[in-house]
Amino acid sequence: MARGSFITFEGLDGSGKTTQLRLLAASLTAAGRNVVTLRQPGGTALGDRIRGILLDSRSEAALGPIAPATEMALMFADRAQAIAEIIEPALAAGSIVLCDRFTDSSEAYQGGGRQLGSERILAMHAAACGKLQPDLTLLLLPSLEDSLRRARRRNQRHLQKQGTDENRFERESDDFYRRIYEKYEEIAAREPQRVLPIRDEASIDQIQKRIFEIVTAHLSAATP
Ligand code: TYD
Repeated sequence: MARGSFITFEGLDGSGKTTQLRLLAASLTAAGRNVVTLRQPGGTALGDRIRGILLDSRSEAALGPIAPATEMALMFADRAQAIAEIIEPALAAGSIVLCDRFTDSSEAYQGGGRQLGSERILAMHAAACGKLQPDLTLLLLPSLEDSLRRARRRNQRHLQKQGTDENRFERESDDFYRRIYEKYEEIAAREPQRVLPIRDEASIDQIQKRIFEIVTAHLSAATP
């Protein structure tokens, strides 16, 4: 059986990547493809526990400040488990795996945002994930101004909502998001073969069409 394809979605909080991933999954499924979707952190039972620790803003009240290196290591613990439980078996079975965030998020958020630097993240990737890399990464990256505006808007929505406490990252400053944005730019420039940035502010439908075309072309090029 031919190995499947591993496609990741990246971008800042509020970039619309989760919506686009769902739309792409629906179109590929309608076209008769076998699709497996997951998000990081999370996706496995262990990963969902890690997600709770990482994203819950109450964690730091209960556990004390989470050190940047701890945050990095927990992201990779989650990822290693998702690779073993979900991603590798699905690829081996020939499926298309669509993953909402992967190591580029660690490089952008922990490497850039938390200023650990790319080198540590890439070394951690090699230790935890081996050679696995996405075949294609769709990076939703509108202008910095738009990205900050969207992240802030999302921030406020979360702050107004009591109870759904997944906002530890979303309380960060503009500078944090600016560093993430710049790191994403750096990754896209370093790996133009893999990473496809989608920069404009087209409608959800237009972006969806473009992504479907890109992915269809990628899949037919990958099929011998
Ligand atoms: P989530 O609610 O899934 O947000 P989004 O819809 O923006 O993906 O939260 C994931 C958060 O975790 C997001 O703020 C980015 C952060 N994150 C990292 O900092 N490093 C990582 O390696 C990953 C996968 C996510």
